[in-house]
Amino acid sequence: MIQFSSLDGRPLDQPSPSVLVPTMGALHEGHAALIRRGREIAGHEGNVTVSIFLNPLQFNSSSDLATYPRTLEADLLLCRGLGVDAVYAPSPEEFYGADHSISIVENSLSRALCGTTRPGHFEGVCTVVLKLLNTLRPSDAIFGKKDYQQLAIIKRLVRDLGVPVRIHGVETVREPDGLALSSRNLMLKPEHRKDASRIYGALLSAQDIRETGEQRREVYLQTARKHLVENALSEMGIEYLELVDRETLAPLAKVTRPALLATAITYDKVRLIDNIEI
Ligand code: PAJ
Repeated sequence: MIQFSSLDGRPLDQPSPSVLVPTMGALHEGHAALIRRGREIAGHEGNVTVSIFLNPLQFNSSSDLATYPRTLEADLLLCRGLGVDAVYAPSPEEFYGADHSISIVENSLSRALCGTTRPGHFEGVCTVVLKLLNTLRPSDAIFGKKDYQQLAIIKRLVRDLGVPVRIHGVETVREPDGLALSSRNLMLKPEHRKDASRIYGALLSAQDIRETGEQRREVYLQTARKHLVENALSEMGIEYLELVDRETLAPLAKVTRPALLATAITYDKVRLIDNIEI
């Protein structure tokens, strides 16, 4: 545990609120928004801890894990600049014992969207998040709506297992052209990065339809799909584009309740996700 500021001798798990912002590093302005929200919740008396842990359990492919950006020195500087009190950055060996054999499976929400193409991913996320919560015992933990499904699953985990923590969701932070900030954006080729602004454009084009009172699922999906594929680079692939119920994440036949339009797009091997509330 790297501690930046004096905590007046108080142990980290005692004072309230103590806020945790879980990350995998390669921090950017999206993470910074979570940290700022954490600072607001913690106030003067409380403390903010950022965890930086590239969790091997949630990666489906070893090459994805191997190429994930690692920028610890810059991450520590960013944390210090944002008034973070402590950074928890264990090694995988430190965090998981060699004979670690328990994992957490969520059986409903994690079957949708990213769960269909990333088997085991949310099991890895649930396991690491529960262990982080148990290890650091925060009163509050902050997650981004960019990973909407992850946020929904973590709320369910906390509810179903009675974990004593408040979960907060923060709006997606975007580049000026609309692309959601992501550590993976660093891995895009320049021409792919430029093309990727179409993702948010497509989501917005579908969201605009809501004002007309349209309820049909196909109209939303067709509109978004048209914007995604129009003059797109040949390397762009749509892994999924789905309209789901915001609570259950189940496919929604008619927009008669709060909906979420969510997508996963690939440029060669780089996978980007985004979503919009409808
Ligand atoms: P990571 O991808 O590093 O993201 C850490 C947190 O930052 C997540 O809650 C994510 O939703 C949020 N975030 C990322 N980009 C954002 C953006 N553009 N706007 C707002 N928030 C954003 O998500 C993970 O790590 C891991 O799965 C983790 C929860 C740490 C478990 O290993």
